[in-house]
Amino acid sequence: MNNNTGDDHQMPNPAWIDGKTCDLSEATVRLEDRAYFFGDGIYEAIRVYSKNPFYLQAHLDRLHRSADAINLKLPYSDEEISSACSDLIRLSGYDEAYIYMQVSRGVAPREHSFPKNAKPSMSIYVREIPSAMIEQVARPAACITVPDERWMNCYIKSVNLLPNCLARQQAVEAGASEAILYRPGGVVTEGTRSNIFAVIGGEVRTHPESNLILSGITRRIILDIIASLRIPCREEAFTLEELPSASEVWVTSTISELQPVAGINGSAVKGNLPGEYAKAVKAEFKKEVDSVRA
Ligand SMILES: Cc1ncc(COP(=O)(O)O)c(C=O)c1O
Repeated sequence: MNNNTGDDHQMPNPAWIDGKTCDLSEATVRLEDRAYFFGDGIYEAIRVYSKNPFYLQAHLDRLHRSADAINLKLPYSDEEISSACSDLIRLSGYDEAYIYMQVSRGVAPREHSFPKNAKPSMSIYVREIPSAMIEQVARPAACITVPDERWMNCYIKSVNLLPNCLARQQAVEAGASEAILYRPGGVVTEGTRSNIFAVIGGEVRTHPESNLILSGITRRIILDIIASLRIPCREEAFTLEELPSASEVWVTSTISELQPVAGINGSAVKGNLPGEYAKAVKAEFKKEVDSVRA
């Protein structure tokens, strides 16, 4: 149950912009910010359980990888960012929340090439996870399949998310909750904001790390759990053609953790919900979450 009524609660949704704290409703960005003009920025979303960020360092490591990939120097150290996150969580008073952080190349007159003197800018805020979202991810997901029309650098967690938004809107209009993206040849890459796993022939499969997917933090945790449980698994892409033979399909992400998929394009995924492997992995995932709650 989310709770923002703690004694230390001062701001429902505190935001931090380059070292200054304010309420999210008052936080503003400059019109000439390059993230606004060009999507020239990167981001992370981190889950908070019982006031504790989950796998914060893994998210910061990925932020560094994204920054390096676009030649952006992060303006703050990991220690400064972690400390800002702790302050925001305390200020919010929320137990269950998420942290959003974004780094932009900075403010400069509109010119595509990098500005010489722009200073990268970082913003962070904490928000409660809407109960509707918690309820939605607690239910099995309905998915549709949509061509993956994104660029070839999907390992960068860039704020350029228009193709993801368009595909997800298609899912919503079809009464589904996620779009499973595929490249030519029917190769399933990932979801619009999740990674996708399938159990095919008794073996768990998911697209390997590459430029075609975002290397999900949840994906990694789940792969480690699968290895510890000695469940057969291969980081090898599967195709749309193989999907109907899957006995389980999962959506994984920071927000949805492991969400079993009930149907794809209106056809039910065969097998029980949650499937045998999903149940075992979810139980171990819960232990991991409980360890940060302690
Ligand atoms: C495209 C995409 N793939 C995968 C994920 C899952 O990543 P994580 O488990 O780190 O939340 C996300 C999360 O936002 C995403 O946007």
